[in-house]
Amino acid sequence: MGPVGVRERAELTVRLRAAGCVAAEEEAAEIWSAAGADEEAAAAMVARRETGEPLAWIIGRIDFGGVQISVAPGVYVPRWQTAALAAAALRRLPAGGTCLDLCTGSGAVPAYLRAKGASGRLLGTDVDPTAVACARSNGVEAIRCSLDTDVPSELEHRFDVLTAVVPYVPRSALPLLAPDVRQWEPPVALDGGPDGTQVLRQVAGLAPRWLRPGGWLLLEMGADQIGTLTDMAEGLGFDAVSVLADGDGDPCGFEARWASTSL
Ligand SMILES: C[S@@+](CC[C@H](N)C(=O)[O-])C[C@H]1O[C@@H](n2cnc3c(N)ncnc32)[C@H](O)[C@@H]1O
Repeated sequence: MGPVGVRERAELTVRLRAAGCVAAEEEAAEIWSAAGADEEAAAAMVARRETGEPLAWIIGRIDFGGVQISVAPGVYVPRWQTAALAAAALRRLPAGGTCLDLCTGSGAVPAYLRAKGASGRLLGTDVDPTAVACARSNGVEAIRCSLDTDVPSELEHRFDVLTAVVPYVPRSALPLLAPDVRQWEPPVALDGGPDGTQVLRQVAGLAPRWLRPGGWLLLEMGADQIGTLTDMAEGLGFDAVSVLADGDGDPCGFEARWASTSL
């Protein structure tokens, strides 16, 4: 008899590989651990994975920049690329500083900030009640509303940082997404309108209402959308615009400072 679980994990790996999972061995280990080394439970999880269901929904969590985030079925799975935006937001957050995270999903960005030591108010919003519940399960203060509609008005011009990973896929590109994304993740998390910038523009437009002068806006987007949005941000009165790069060095958004003193 070999070490406990080796044979079982090998069998799970074979099934996952046959189902097209690229990182079958790692996924088998994650499933085995999430199933508490219970063969029947692990087999049931693999059966779900064989249908293409996201691994994070099955095991209930994902590593996001070194922080464990709970992810409920139906909620957008935080992407590793977004950890770059979260790390940049952390750098812009002063001691005790505040952050408004629009389109918070699982609350990955504020949960990351909290885990890395942020002590001030971190507020998320999302239109999807399942996402709001998930964000709360990650310890994030979350409001269910569209963008900023229910953020208390007494918080106007009070936030040090405003982050948003909004839906930014051009509608015409939705059918081209990988099947596991297209068939499983909610369209409301992906659909950015005709050219993908609809929600991005809304967020850039509303950010000055919530940021204090000198506060920072950080937005994730496709590389081809950055020029349009940085032009818009500069036109609104943001300065110190700089492009953010993900862990592979690819452009994934920008940060900009709210420079207006005319409040
Ligand atoms: C791309 S996901 C990002 C989630 C999270 N920020 C992350 O990085 O994991 C976009 C999220 O925006 C939410 N959403 C879409 N339209 C919205 C709106 N008008 N107001 C608030 N949330 C919205 C979706 O429900 C989804 O959770």
